[in-house]
Amino acid sequence: MLAELENLHAQAVETLEKANTTAVLEDWHRDTLGRRGSIYLLTRQIGQLSAEERPVFGQRLNAAKDELEAAYEQRLAILKAAELKHKMASTAIDVTLPGRSQWRGRLHPATRTLREIYRIWGDMGFQVYRSRDVETDEYNFELLNIPQHHPARDMWDTFHTTTPGVILRTHTSPGQIHAMREYAPEPIRVILPGMCYRYEQITARSEIQFHQVEGLAVGKNISLADLKGTLTDFARRMFGANRKVRFRANYFPFTEPSAEMDVECILCGGEGCQVCKYAGWLEILGCGMVHPTVLRNGGYDPAVYSGFAFGMGPERITMLKYGIQDIRYFWSNDLRFLEQF
Ligand code: DAH
Repeated sequence: MLAELENLHAQAVETLEKANTTAVLEDWHRDTLGRRGSIYLLTRQIGQLSAEERPVFGQRLNAAKDELEAAYEQRLAILKAAELKHKMASTAIDVTLPGRSQWRGRLHPATRTLREIYRIWGDMGFQVYRSRDVETDEYNFELLNIPQHHPARDMWDTFHTTTPGVILRTHTSPGQIHAMREYAPEPIRVILPGMCYRYEQITARSEIQFHQVEGLAVGKNISLADLKGTLTDFARRMFGANRKVRFRANYFPFTEPSAEMDVECILCGGEGCQVCKYAGWLEILGCGMVHPTVLRNGGYDPAVYSGFAFGMGPERITMLKYGIQDIRYFWSNDLRFLEQF
């Protein structure tokens, strides 16, 4: 029996050394030193030994158990340390890696320009007045002094709805009538921003939808000098304090006299470049003194009241500012374009 014990002991030492995970080691412990383990089972056979053999065997058995228990503890500590080390290595965070940048949203370039325009006019005492995108022929044309068969209608190619007389606005100017009819006979200082629609062939220079910012001032004693002074001030605030502007006579049915305002080219400073087509000037808006018929249609007596109006295209201004060659980029939602701003 002693020989059997030595044999079991030697085997146990051998298998212990082969246990290379804590799970295998625990199995070993159960099968060797546990309640049904091989070593433990030997103690049950002590009764079969003679009285002299018993203490010798008992001592040896206890010594073997203690040895194996100690070897187990040692092996367990080694395996636990190795497993912890492996776990730490496999889940490690490399703090020297460059961070992954967050995806950030941003404002559309047209929105940026619009907000800048609102801020400037807000500083000058003009409030935003919104009016509808779907208009009647009456507001879009008639009341703005553009009668049914007037050739001036050719200036705007119109989207018609299936309801006769209901169209998509071709410009923000009908908002002038809405504002005047709401405020008359009080003085008015508003800007009227919004999307406009034209049934046009889409090219690098024209889109079927685009923004406009209209402006309107109505009151007593408003003169052409006020128009020129106010718009010049706007251009300086928008494009820089030393920016030169000029007014060129033009025709619009709803203003008389009418003009277009140019600013000194914002890219070349007037020296001539591709953007200004070597003219040194960029056209940025149409303007004029509100036509007496339009004032009357809005509810103001043109003998007492006068006013000025203007209309500008923020996308066009953005194109000039950044040298964007094609207006179609604005609403085609190509991120390669949008992410540049
Ligand atoms: N409504 C004009 C257009 O769409 C722009 C315009 C010109 C507006 C002169 C005005 C103005 O208020 O006075 O082309």
